[in-house]
Order: sequence, then C-alpha cells, then structure tokens
Amino acid sequence: MPNQPVYHSAIDSVRALQWTGNALRVLDQRKLPGSVEYQDFHTAKGVAEAIKTMRVRGAPAIGIAAAYGVVLAAQAHHAQNPDTWQKSVIQDIDILAASRPTAVNLFWALDTMRKAIASGGNGPSSLLAIAQSIHENDIAANHRMGELGAALLQGASGVLTHCNTGSLATGGYGTALGVIRSAYALGLQNIYACETRPWLQGARLTVWELDQDNIPATLIADSAAAWLMRSGAVQWVIVGADRITANGDAANKIGTYSHAVNARHHGVKFMVVAPTSTIDWNTPSGEGIEIEQRERKELLSDYYHRDDSVIDAWNPVFDVTPASLIDAIVTEKGVVLNPTAETMQTL
Ligand code: MRU
Repeated sequence: MPNQPVYHSAIDSVRALQWTGNALRVLDQRKLPGSVEYQDFHTAKGVAEAIKTMRVRGAPAIGIAAAYGVVLAAQAHHAQNPDTWQKSVIQDIDILAASRPTAVNLFWALDTMRKAIASGGNGPSSLLAIAQSIHENDIAANHRMGELGAALLQGASGVLTHCNTGSLATGGYGTALGVIRSAYALGLQNIYACETRPWLQGARLTVWELDQDNIPATLIADSAAAWLMRSGAVQWVIVGADRITANGDAANKIGTYSHAVNARHHGVKFMVVAPTSTIDWNTPSGEGIEIEQRERKELLSDYYHRDDSVIDAWNPVFDVTPASLIDAIVTEKGVVLNPTAETMQTL
C-alpha cells in the first residue's frame, strides 16, 4: 500500500468476525437489530453454512470467514491424519466455495489458502497466520480507501448508500461505509441509507452500525432514491461491490444499477469502493458474472407458499452496473476515474 492508512477507531466499534483460537465467532446478521447474538463455528462446513444462510455476509467478510474456515479444516484434519490432511482440507475448500456464487473475495481468499497448502510446509499454524493477515489487511485497506474516497467528496454535503458495506460486511470499518465514516470525520453532514429490499441490509444493518458509533443517518425507502436525488440533497452515491470485472463493470446488491441510472440522470456522481481482492481480472465484463438467485420465500409472504398458489417470485440479489455509469472506483491501491478496460490497468 502506498501510504500508511489513517485510523478513525473512535467511530468504528462493531466487529462481526472474531477468531477465538479454535473457532470463528460470528455476529448473526439475521437477528440484527433486534438482538446481538454471537455464535461459534468449529468446522469448515459450519462456516460454509453460516455464509449460505447469511449469518455472515458482505463480500470481504465472506472471504475472511472462508479463510478461517480453511484453518478450522486444517486443524481438524491435521489432528486426525498428519500425513494426508491436505487432501481432506481441499475437499472442505470446495464446500466453502459452493456457499455463495457472486462475491469474488470468497474465491480469492480460498485460492490464497489453497496455494499456501499446495506450496507445502504450511501447517495449521501458518495457515492461521495467513487468514489473520487477510483479515488485518482488509481493515487496513478499508482505512486507506476511506481516505482516498473522502478526498473525492470535497464540497459534498450529502451522500446516499445502498446495502451494508460497513464493519459488518468486512473485517472492520467498511468499504463504501468506510469512505462515509472518513468523510463524516472530516465534516460530511448528511448520510442517507436505502432500506435495501428484500433482505433490508440498509434498514437492519447499516443504520444499526452507524447508530453504534453515534453517526447520524437518515433511512429512505429504496423507491425514494430518485426523488431524493432530484431534491439536490445528495451529490454522490457511494456503494460497495461483490465483483468488479476487468473493464470496471461492478456487481453489487440488487438496486445498485437503478441508483446508477438515476444518478446519471440527475447529475449525481457515482462511486464504487472495493479492495483489489474484489477485482476479477479473469472476467472481461459484467456479462460473465454469475448473479445469485435466492429463494422466492425471501420475497413472498407465507400466504403464497400454498401448493395451489399461482404466484412466483424473481429474486436476483445482485445486479451489474456498467462501468460507463461509474465516476470513480476507489481501491486501496488507488482511484480509477471513469473506469474502462484501459484505465483499470493503472491498478
Ligand atoms: O447479499 P449480501 O448482503 O452479502 O450483499 C452485500 C453487498 O452487496 C455489498 O454491497 C458488497 O458485498 C460489498 S460489502 C463491503
């Protein structure tokens, strides 16, 4: 990283993932804000289930949790079979990889762990050191992106964000929410958060997380975003990403694309904030991204789960914003303005 990141620890108190020594402690995000419950996972399969069921969510947090999942697999298989433990760990890596399809940080973290195992000489304790450095580097990257992103906001009085991209979705501090934290520390006045239907990451998680740190914010219905932009209250939309392709297209929570279209129409700038572990250099454009479809019951109330109901639901949980609608991609390695396949190469 080019410079030492600036830490604003006073406004970053939440941690969703903690390593206990023999388990991954996870803040169950399905229960927030009603109750704050931690659960310990002792196996890779358990961690995969925690990701699948959205106890852990957010691209960087998914990657970090998966890396600790590999450590749990290594500890268990090494104890059982010190000669051939690696083969069993690779099987557990495949289970972790099948937990969610869109966030590339998952595959990046698992690849990092797989290569460490394949290079030989890395037992459970050195795999733990690698997982911990993935975790720590993520927090450092977020603080660096916070500085770089906040510098772009000079003169802005209001910003709008979508989904949850904060400490809950990362190792700590957050990507888009990290930029918002840093900008708040520098005097940003108005923070608007979208509800983020259907899972309500904004209404349940983002405003809860900001409340924990006494950062004032205003919640809006997703459908109020265009009207908010028209009012002139926000000058930037700031979002995270689950996967950025080589040409700068960005997959993020469903609804992000519609914010980008609305932002361009209203002359509002659009910023995507993500660590370089979110960039998928092997996929040339957003057309190659697998978009996760989740169950219809996340949208439909119980009434429609009857066998004789004729109502279905279409529930893609991500969409892709084309690079042409993005004004800036902020990473820990630098900012790409007006991203294209060529300008992305500066990273
Ligand atoms: O389905 P989720 O809640 O895992 O989706 C999360 C998002 O879309 C986030 O915006 C993205 O992962 C970036 S988190 C720093």
